[in-house]
Amino acid sequence: MKNTLYLHSTDSTNKIAFERAQQGAPHGFGVIAATQTGGRGRLGKKWQSVPGKGLYCSLIIRSKLEISDYPKITMTSGLGVAVALEKLTGLEIGLKWPNDIYSSGKKCCGILSESSPVGQAEDTPFAIVGIGINVNTERDDFPKELHTTATSLFLETDQVFNLDEVFLEVREQVLQLIKEHENDGFAGILSRWKERDILYDKWLEWVANSGEVVYGKSLGPDEAGQLIVCDEGGTCHQVISGDIQLAKTITSR
Ligand code: BTN
Repeated sequence: MKNTLYLHSTDSTNKIAFERAQQGAPHGFGVIAATQTGGRGRLGKKWQSVPGKGLYCSLIIRSKLEISDYPKITMTSGLGVAVALEKLTGLEIGLKWPNDIYSSGKKCCGILSESSPVGQAEDTPFAIVGIGINVNTERDDFPKELHTTATSLFLETDQVFNLDEVFLEVREQVLQLIKEHENDGFAGILSRWKERDILYDKWLEWVANSGEVVYGKSLGPDEAGQLIVCDEGGTCHQVISGDIQLAKTITSR
Protein backbone atom coordinates (compact mmCIF):
# COMPACT_ATOMS: atom_id res chain seq x y z
CA MET A 1 0.00 0.00 0.00
CA LYS A 2 1.42 3.39 -1.00
CA ASN A 3 2.33 5.96 1.64
CA THR A 4 1.92 3.48 4.48
CA LEU A 5 4.28 1.94 7.03
CA TYR A 6 3.21 -1.40 8.54
CA LEU A 7 4.65 -2.54 11.84
CA HIS A 8 4.15 -5.83 13.58
CA SER A 9 4.44 -4.17 16.98
CA THR A 10 5.41 -0.75 18.26
CA ASP A 11 4.92 1.31 21.40
CA SER A 12 2.66 3.90 19.75
CA THR A 13 1.89 4.58 16.08
CA ASN A 14 1.45 8.26 17.00
CA LYS A 15 5.07 8.38 18.14
CA ILE A 16 6.37 6.72 14.95
CA ALA A 17 4.20 8.96 12.74
CA PHE A 18 5.50 12.02 14.59
CA GLU A 19 9.11 10.96 13.93
CA ARG A 20 8.32 10.25 10.26
CA ALA A 21 6.66 13.67 9.92
CA GLN A 22 9.74 15.35 11.40
CA GLN A 23 11.80 13.49 8.79
CA GLY A 24 9.55 14.91 6.04
CA ALA A 25 6.95 12.19 5.35
CA PRO A 26 4.07 13.61 3.26
CA HIS A 27 0.46 14.54 3.97
CA GLY A 28 -1.69 11.41 4.25
CA PHE A 29 1.21 9.12 5.21
CA GLY A 30 -0.10 6.38 7.51
CA VAL A 31 1.52 4.22 10.17
CA ILE A 32 -0.29 1.00 11.13
CA ALA A 33 0.66 -1.52 13.80
CA ALA A 34 -0.82 -4.95 14.46
CA THR A 35 -0.40 -4.19 18.15
CA GLN A 36 0.96 -1.42 20.41
CA THR A 37 2.77 -1.88 23.70
CA GLY A 38 2.18 1.71 24.82
CA GLY A 39 -0.92 2.83 22.92
CA ARG A 40 -1.80 6.34 24.09
CA GLY A 41 -5.31 7.55 24.82
CA ARG A 42 -6.62 11.01 25.70
CA LEU A 43 -5.99 12.51 29.13
CA GLY A 44 -3.00 10.25 29.75
CA LYS A 45 -5.05 7.06 29.49
CA LYS A 46 -3.76 3.85 27.87
CA TRP A 47 -5.30 2.44 24.69
CA GLN A 48 -5.69 -1.34 24.84
CA SER A 49 -4.38 -2.71 21.54
CA VAL A 50 -5.53 -6.34 21.25
CA PRO A 51 -3.13 -7.92 18.69
CA GLY A 52 -4.57 -8.28 15.20
CA LYS A 53 -8.14 -7.44 16.22
CA GLY A 54 -8.20 -3.67 15.99
CA LEU A 55 -6.99 -0.96 13.65
CA TYR A 56 -4.25 1.10 15.33
CA CYS A 57 -3.11 3.78 12.92
CA SER A 58 -1.84 7.34 12.73
CA LEU A 59 -2.11 9.74 9.81
CA ILE A 60 0.18 12.67 9.08
CA ILE A 61 -1.83 15.78 8.26
CA ARG A 62 -0.08 18.72 6.62
CA SER A 63 -2.66 21.40 6.13
CA LYS A 64 -3.01 24.99 4.96
CA LEU A 65 -5.14 25.57 8.05
CA GLU A 66 -3.80 27.85 10.78
CA ILE A 67 -2.29 26.27 13.88
CA SER A 68 -5.29 27.67 15.81
CA ASP A 69 -7.55 25.60 13.54
CA TYR A 70 -5.82 22.36 14.50
CA PRO A 71 -8.32 21.43 17.28
CA LYS A 72 -10.98 21.47 14.57
CA ILE A 73 -8.90 19.00 12.56
CA THR A 74 -9.63 16.47 15.30
CA MET A 75 -13.37 16.97 14.88
CA THR A 76 -13.08 16.88 11.09
CA SER A 77 -11.14 13.62 11.36
CA GLY A 78 -13.74 12.20 13.76
CA LEU A 79 -16.47 12.92 11.24
CA GLY A 80 -14.34 11.27 8.53
CA VAL A 81 -13.96 8.11 10.64
CA ALA A 82 -17.71 8.11 11.39
CA VAL A 83 -18.59 8.40 7.69
CA ALA A 84 -16.13 5.60 6.82
CA LEU A 85 -17.56 3.28 9.49
CA GLU A 86 -21.12 4.02 8.39
CA LYS A 87 -20.16 3.14 4.82
CA LEU A 88 -18.36 -0.08 5.78
CA THR A 89 -20.87 -1.39 8.32
CA GLY A 90 -24.25 0.26 7.65
CA LEU A 91 -24.38 1.08 11.38
CA GLU A 92 -25.64 4.35 12.80
CA ILE A 93 -22.49 5.98 14.23
CA GLY A 94 -22.54 8.61 16.98
CA LEU A 95 -19.94 11.20 17.98
CA LYS A 96 -19.19 12.19 21.56
CA TRP A 97 -17.31 15.46 21.96
CA PRO A 98 -14.45 15.93 21.52
CA ASN A 99 -13.87 12.82 19.53
CA ASP A 100 -15.12 9.46 20.67
CA ILE A 101 -17.00 7.30 18.23
CA TYR A 102 -19.99 5.31 19.40
CA SER A 103 -22.35 2.63 18.21
CA SER A 104 -25.47 1.65 20.21
CA GLY A 105 -24.34 3.71 23.20
CA LYS A 106 -20.89 2.08 23.45
CA LYS A 107 -17.47 3.34 22.35
CA CYS A 108 -15.95 1.62 19.31
CA CYS A 109 -13.20 4.08 18.42
CA GLY A 110 -11.06 6.82 19.95
CA ILE A 111 -8.95 9.51 18.34
CA LEU A 112 -5.86 11.21 19.73
CA SER A 113 -4.51 14.18 17.76
CA GLU A 114 -1.16 15.74 18.42
CA SER A 115 0.37 18.70 16.60
CA SER A 116 3.93 19.74 15.88
CA PRO A 117 5.31 22.04 18.58
CA VAL A 118 4.46 25.68 17.79
CA GLY A 119 7.62 27.70 17.16
CA GLN A 120 9.79 24.72 16.34
CA ALA A 121 8.17 23.68 13.10
CA GLU A 122 6.36 26.81 11.98
CA ASP A 123 7.51 26.38 8.38
CA THR A 124 6.14 22.89 8.10
CA PRO A 125 3.45 22.43 10.72
CA PHE A 126 1.75 19.07 10.89
CA ALA A 127 -0.76 17.18 12.97
CA ILE A 128 -0.81 13.50 13.79
CA VAL A 129 -4.28 11.99 13.92
CA GLY A 130 -4.11 8.71 15.85
CA ILE A 131 -7.10 6.42 15.39
CA GLY A 132 -7.88 3.29 17.39
CA ILE A 133 -10.86 1.25 16.17
CA ASN A 134 -12.18 -1.89 17.84
CA VAL A 135 -12.77 -3.80 14.62
CA ASN A 136 -12.90 -7.58 15.17
CA THR A 137 -12.55 -7.41 18.94
CA GLU A 138 -14.62 -10.01 20.82
CA ARG A 139 -16.29 -9.47 24.18
CA ASP A 140 -13.68 -11.40 26.14
CA ASP A 141 -10.85 -9.45 24.50
CA PHE A 142 -11.98 -6.40 26.48
CA PRO A 143 -11.08 -6.12 30.16
CA LYS A 144 -14.13 -6.76 32.37
CA GLU A 145 -14.45 -3.11 33.39
CA LEU A 146 -15.04 -2.14 29.74
CA HIS A 147 -17.74 -4.74 29.01
CA THR A 148 -20.61 -2.30 29.53
CA THR A 149 -19.01 0.68 27.80
CA ALA A 150 -16.96 -0.65 24.85
CA THR A 151 -17.96 -2.38 21.64
CA SER A 152 -16.48 -3.35 18.28
CA LEU A 153 -17.64 -3.44 14.67
CA PHE A 154 -17.73 -7.25 14.93
CA LEU A 155 -19.91 -7.21 18.06
CA GLU A 156 -22.31 -4.74 16.43
CA THR A 157 -22.66 -6.51 13.08
CA ASP A 158 -21.56 -10.13 13.57
CA GLN A 159 -19.18 -9.62 10.63
CA VAL A 160 -15.40 -9.87 10.47
CA PHE A 161 -13.77 -6.94 8.67
CA ASN A 162 -10.51 -6.75 6.72
CA LEU A 163 -8.28 -4.31 8.62
CA ASP A 164 -6.58 -3.00 5.44
CA GLU A 165 -9.95 -2.18 3.89
CA VAL A 166 -11.03 -0.38 7.05
CA PHE A 167 -7.77 1.62 7.04
CA LEU A 168 -8.10 2.61 3.36
CA GLU A 169 -11.71 3.77 3.77
CA VAL A 170 -10.90 5.69 6.96
CA ARG A 171 -7.89 7.42 5.36
CA GLU A 172 -9.88 8.32 2.24
CA GLN A 173 -12.76 9.87 4.20
CA VAL A 174 -10.52 11.74 6.64
CA LEU A 175 -8.39 13.25 3.83
CA GLN A 176 -11.50 14.13 1.81
CA LEU A 177 -13.04 16.01 4.75
CA ILE A 178 -9.76 17.81 5.58
CA LYS A 179 -9.75 19.02 1.96
CA GLU A 180 -13.36 20.20 2.29
CA HIS A 181 -12.47 21.97 5.55
CA GLU A 182 -9.59 23.78 3.82
CA ASN A 183 -11.63 24.74 0.76
CA ASP A 184 -15.08 25.49 2.20
CA GLY A 185 -14.49 26.15 5.91
CA PHE A 186 -15.68 24.35 9.05
CA ALA A 187 -19.41 25.20 9.04
CA GLY A 188 -20.54 22.32 6.80
CA ILE A 189 -18.37 19.83 8.69
CA LEU A 190 -19.72 21.10 12.03
CA SER A 191 -23.31 20.70 10.93
CA ARG A 192 -22.67 17.09 9.80
CA TRP A 193 -20.82 16.44 13.09
CA LYS A 194 -23.82 17.74 15.03
CA GLU A 195 -26.19 15.36 13.23
CA ARG A 196 -24.30 12.55 15.03
CA ASP A 197 -23.83 14.33 18.40
CA ILE A 198 -24.83 11.87 21.14
CA LEU A 199 -24.52 14.47 23.93
CA TYR A 200 -26.81 17.13 22.45
CA ASP A 201 -29.43 18.40 24.95
CA LYS A 202 -28.18 15.96 27.60
CA TRP A 203 -27.22 16.84 31.18
CA LEU A 204 -23.49 16.43 31.62
CA GLU A 205 -20.93 16.66 34.34
CA TRP A 206 -17.32 17.58 33.98
CA VAL A 207 -14.48 18.78 36.12
CA ALA A 208 -13.83 22.49 35.55
CA ASN A 209 -10.32 24.00 35.65
CA SER A 210 -11.05 25.04 39.25
CA GLY A 211 -11.40 21.35 40.14
CA GLU A 212 -15.13 21.79 40.81
CA VAL A 213 -17.61 19.32 39.26
CA VAL A 214 -19.95 21.33 37.04
CA TYR A 215 -23.37 20.17 35.77
CA GLY A 216 -24.95 21.53 32.64
CA LYS A 217 -26.94 20.83 29.51
CA SER A 218 -25.03 20.46 26.25
CA LEU A 219 -25.81 22.76 23.34
CA GLY A 220 -23.18 20.97 21.23
CA PRO A 221 -19.88 22.26 19.87
CA ASP A 222 -19.55 25.82 18.52
CA GLU A 223 -17.74 27.00 15.40
CA ALA A 224 -14.43 27.02 17.32
CA GLY A 225 -14.91 23.35 18.23
CA GLN A 226 -15.54 24.10 21.92
CA LEU A 227 -18.45 22.41 23.70
CA ILE A 228 -21.12 24.81 24.98
CA VAL A 229 -22.66 23.66 28.25
CA CYS A 230 -25.23 25.77 30.15
CA ASP A 231 -25.60 25.27 33.90
CA GLU A 232 -28.79 25.54 36.00
CA GLY A 233 -28.08 29.19 36.77
CA GLY A 234 -28.19 29.93 33.04
CA THR A 235 -24.46 30.53 32.68
CA CYS A 236 -23.05 28.97 29.55
CA HIS A 237 -19.50 27.60 29.61
CA GLN A 238 -17.14 26.94 26.73
CA VAL A 239 -15.48 23.65 27.51
CA ILE A 240 -12.10 23.41 25.78
CA SER A 241 -11.03 19.98 26.89
CA GLY A 242 -11.69 17.40 29.54
CA ASP A 243 -13.58 14.25 30.31
CA ILE A 244 -17.27 14.87 29.80
CA GLN A 245 -19.73 12.37 31.21
CA LEU A 246 -23.49 12.08 31.23
CA ALA A 247 -24.65 13.36 34.65
CA LYS A 248 -25.51 10.48 36.96
CA THR A 249 -25.51 12.15 40.35
CA ILE A 250 -28.62 14.33 39.98
CA THR A 251 -31.64 12.21 39.09
CA SER A 252 -34.29 14.97 38.98
CA ARG A 253 -32.83 16.07 35.67
C1 BTN B 1 -8.93 7.87 23.26
O1 BTN B 1 -10.09 7.54 23.06
O2 BTN B 1 -8.51 8.08 24.42
C2 BTN B 1 -7.99 8.03 22.10
C3 BTN B 1 -7.38 6.70 21.72
C4 BTN B 1 -6.45 6.78 20.52
C5 BTN B 1 -5.78 5.46 20.27
C6 BTN B 1 -5.00 5.44 18.99
S1 BTN B 1 -4.47 3.81 18.55
C7 BTN B 1 -3.46 4.45 17.30
C8 BTN B 1 -2.85 5.73 17.82
N1 BTN B 1 -1.61 5.46 18.54
C9 BTN B 1 -1.71 5.74 19.83
O3 BTN B 1 -0.79 5.58 20.67
N2 BTN B 1 -2.94 6.22 20.12
C10 BTN B 1 -3.76 6.30 18.92
